[in-house]
Amino acid sequence: MKSKFHKLSKNTTTVSKKVILFSILLIAIACQKKETTLPSQTKWVQDDHSFAQPNKAVAKHLDLDIKVDFDTQTLSGKASWTIENNAKGNEIIFDENTLNITKVTLGDDEKETQFQLGDSVEFHGRPIHITIQPTTTKVNIYYNTTKKSVALQWLTPEQTADKKKPFLFSQGESIWSRTWLPCQDSPGIRFTYNAKVTVPKDLMAVMSAVNPQQKNDTGIYTFQQDKPIPSYLMAIAVGDIQFQSIDHRTGVYAEPSVIKKAAWEFAKLGDMVNAAEKLFGPYRWGRYDVIVLPPSFPYGGMENPNLTFLTPTVLAGDRSLTSLLAHELGHSWSGNLVTNATWDDIWLNEGFTTYVEHRIGEAVFGVKEAKMQDVLSRKVLQDNLTDLGITSPDTRLKVNTTGKNPDDGLSDIPYEKGYAFLQTIEAAVGREKFDAFITAYFKAHSFQSITTEDFVTYYKENLIKGYKALADKIKMEEWIYKPGIPPNIITPISEDFNAIDALQKTWRQTGVKGLSQKITSTNEKQHFIDYLPADITTEEMTAIDKECNFTNGGNFVVRRQWFIQALKHHYKTAYPAIEQFLTTYSRTGSLTPLYKEMAKTPEGKTWANQIFAKVKAGYHATTLEAVQQVLK
Ligand code: BES
Ligand code: ZN
Repeated sequence: MKSKFHKLSKNTTTVSKKVILFSILLIAIACQKKETTLPSQTKWVQDDHSFAQPNKAVAKHLDLDIKVDFDTQTLSGKASWTIENNAKGNEIIFDENTLNITKVTLGDDEKETQFQLGDSVEFHGRPIHITIQPTTTKVNIYYNTTKKSVALQWLTPEQTADKKKPFLFSQGESIWSRTWLPCQDSPGIRFTYNAKVTVPKDLMAVMSAVNPQQKNDTGIYTFQQDKPIPSYLMAIAVGDIQFQSIDHRTGVYAEPSVIKKAAWEFAKLGDMVNAAEKLFGPYRWGRYDVIVLPPSFPYGGMENPNLTFLTPTVLAGDRSLTSLLAHELGHSWSGNLVTNATWDDIWLNEGFTTYVEHRIGEAVFGVKEAKMQDVLSRKVLQDNLTDLGITSPDTRLKVNTTGKNPDDGLSDIPYEKGYAFLQTIEAAVGREKFDAFITAYFKAHSFQSITTEDFVTYYKENLIKGYKALADKIKMEEWIYKPGIPPNIITPISEDFNAIDALQKTWRQTGVKGLSQKITSTNEKQHFIDYLPADITTEEMTAIDKECNFTNGGNFVVRRQWFIQALKHHYKTAYPAIEQFLTTYSRTGSLTPLYKEMAKTPEGKTWANQIFAKVKAGYHATTLEAVQQVLK
């Protein structure tokens, strides 16, 4: 009996061992599977900038088939949306703005269905109400864009670097994707996509997806984005584009005359991706490439997945402006992997990215460089606070953009106050702990769109964990929901800048000779220029310019800062260069400070209006809108 029992028991043990082993195997397989199937967004929040009602019916995947026509300056084709009709109702709502919708069909057999356009709302466009069946899984929207599309800029050959072929690029953020693609245009809604794009045979197309590296002779390009992205990250560029590889997973696209310069300038791109991975966890998107666009690109950069879009103004020739690359790359974690659910939460994108940018910068370019960047950052914050007023609700991290064009309300606050807040947490808990927290935060919310309140919950549960003393030290609520700056903000110090400050105190007595040898890096130049004495004379400006050659010899950022001072102090020698600067580029954030300075005097405003009238045809729609606001 005993032995029988024993035997039985032994058998049972063997069986259960096998069961356990088998279960472990199953769990391992399941876990592996979980790694490859990406999570799906299931939580919907109210987004005032979209007409979509994703809780009822939501778009999950896009098959896009479009033709790019430079003669009529339109895109036309079909957007086939795979949808989930959660409510099993009879309607799905998409966003559109200035599109021409010609037909809507359902399913692979393309049965025509009814659609209705709602009333147009300023900046928002119109809802497309499409009649569906409870069982509908596919909605095909036939459409073409119009000349009014804000997202698309169609450039003539003269507006490109090579001046030979036309060029097209899109800019979706914040709410402009709906002007080139009928979509559920909310950052809280994510979808994957495939696209087939037909372009003139002498041009090549690239998108925010896996991209071709060579022109083909059919003019047909296909794309795949198998990670769920929000609509504002849909992007396309078409032109005479070449590719040059940097390392095994990074590379650069540009026009033929720019490609070599760009590849040289961005030599550290691969190192940056490696540094970022070491800090914040794996890069989840496969390749990371950048494209240098013509000078009318309205931003410094735009973090389109797999392919950052860049202004050519970063090509300084000495790799001195590459912190912008670190910023756009940083969005591969903060923004593209973990996305703001609404535009009121934009600090989750831009503040986190500014933090990530500085950390990548420190890892790749060193602590001295990082300290200088920190001081520059803090000045931008201080100036912006002074501009807006420290009690202004626009200085809260969580903003209210309801009823507004989100781009209009965009200040430096989400970037720089967001950065300062995250630095404050880092200082309170120590870098090691904060790095682990932020890496876990990215992992926990991968491919999710979240609100500020989701962040707050995660922060309380995973960092504060009930420690009141720590919560009091950080003052999270004050940072996020109150205007101005809490008293626990850190003051960064750079010894290199202290040396520049010392020079600033003496050059008026000792003369400007030798300054150019002592103020050498872009950061130092910017810091020196920004703190020139308020009562500087024209003679002194002239002497500095002779010594340092800021007007003609500086890179884009140095010139921008110098021109602000030139305008402030009526240094007229620089005026032709300023006019040329405002005429050549359309980088909104860099032009508006100059226009603002000009608008301060009646003569300045007249001059600004004259320049604007001359150049506005070449400006991007976003730049037009921003400059108009300044000059109104
Ligand atoms: N995502 C932004 C650009 C953007 C923000 C476009 C909001 C539309 C609405 C991009 O990452 C960015 O922040 N660009 C900056 C450069 C950066 C180095 C601060 C820019 O263009 O100035
Ligand atoms: Zn950004």
